[in-house]
Amino acid sequence: MKGNVIVGQSGGPTAAINASLAGVYRTAKDRGANKVYGMLHGIQGLLKEKYIDLSDHIKTELDAELLKRTPAAFLGSCRYKLPEIHENREVYDKIFEILDKLDIEAFIYIGGNDSMDTVSKLSRYGERVGSDIRFIGVPKTIDNDLIETDHTPGFGSAAKYVAATVREIVLDASVYEQKAVTIIELMGRHAGWLTAASVLARKKKEDNPVLIYLPESNFDLENFARDLKQALEKRNCVIVCVSEGISDASGKFICEYGSEASVDNFGHKMLTGCGKVLENFVRNRFGVKVRSVELNVSQRCSGMVVSGTDVEEAALAGMEGVKGALKGETGKMVAFARISNPGEEYRMECRFVDVNQVCNQEKAVPAEWITGDGNDIGEKFIQYALPLIQGEPERIMENGIPKYLYR
Ligand code: F6P
Repeated sequence: MKGNVIVGQSGGPTAAINASLAGVYRTAKDRGANKVYGMLHGIQGLLKEKYIDLSDHIKTELDAELLKRTPAAFLGSCRYKLPEIHENREVYDKIFEILDKLDIEAFIYIGGNDSMDTVSKLSRYGERVGSDIRFIGVPKTIDNDLIETDHTPGFGSAAKYVAATVREIVLDASVYEQKAVTIIELMGRHAGWLTAASVLARKKKEDNPVLIYLPESNFDLENFARDLKQALEKRNCVIVCVSEGISDASGKFICEYGSEASVDNFGHKMLTGCGKVLENFVRNRFGVKVRSVELNVSQRCSGMVVSGTDVEEAALAGMEGVKGALKGETGKMVAFARISNPGEEYRMECRFVDVNQVCNQEKAVPAEWITGDGNDIGEKFIQYALPLIQGEPERIMENGIPKYLYR
């Protein structure tokens, strides 16, 4: 290749985003890139000319393997939205000036739907000013809410963590002979994919977690009380999994029954706390032992419970991103297409989709995959999600805990 590559990470961390970074780095180097730069804290950092030469940090094959297994975002991340092109051309001129100075041929951005907005805007601006730079998005998000792709890197590992951890919480919560309710709050914002993964914790049908509520269905406190009463009549220990983004029929988030949610830099409400709201409700209404557990960031940054399939696919997405850019693709996102039918051995392949179709959109869990009275998850989801949580990467340990790569 003639020029250099620059890569950035944006949005919430995942356990597999650095595998995509490793995939980008290795492929760019294999294809003859002189320099592979990493933006520090995404496009926001690049605007301040904060970047590194990744070769200063990935010196050996072991470093690349460690990076692949390191959770969070090695380069640092941002939640920053570029202004509309017509509103502020100077920002774009500045970015292109920096990219030209670094002799960039391919710009790879690893992120979710808001981050794809950056790829969309930069590729459109590049076309307008006749730039040769190729702009490619590599998907990532534990929320699994990107459209035009079967699933997103990061989801499989988070789903595996949720399934494994919920199963362990069920074991813990079942030890006493008394009525008890445990409410587990899971991430995912407005999409219930990750909460749905809690169904994978069941050992058999009608096992805990017996109640699962996603943001795709309206949440009603009285219906919840009815469901819970029925569940407590049948068993002592009831585990309820709820998505952080559940809301009532008026659109009010349950977490805001406590106090109003704050807003992040992408303009999203920070949805956290519905588990506590429900814990208080259950305590007051039922008078049973009740506890809420918020898995919080542990569900997206575990290096111990990771899906091998997810990590390999994340690396593949990074690799395909670079390959595509070198073939001339721009304004595209790498997407996963499942080419196996249900019941067959899982197989997927990468494709390129128009990033403009993907950005700023959210993919919800299909209504027909949500069963019961909006309080359970059906077989179709299980068939969809099971292949994504399979396999364990070989661990690299140090003093009894995972060894990672640090900047
Ligand atoms: O981007 C995914 C996500 O993990 C959401 O599920 C969650 O609501 C949000 O990020 C939290 O993000 P932050 O890191 O900004 O607190």
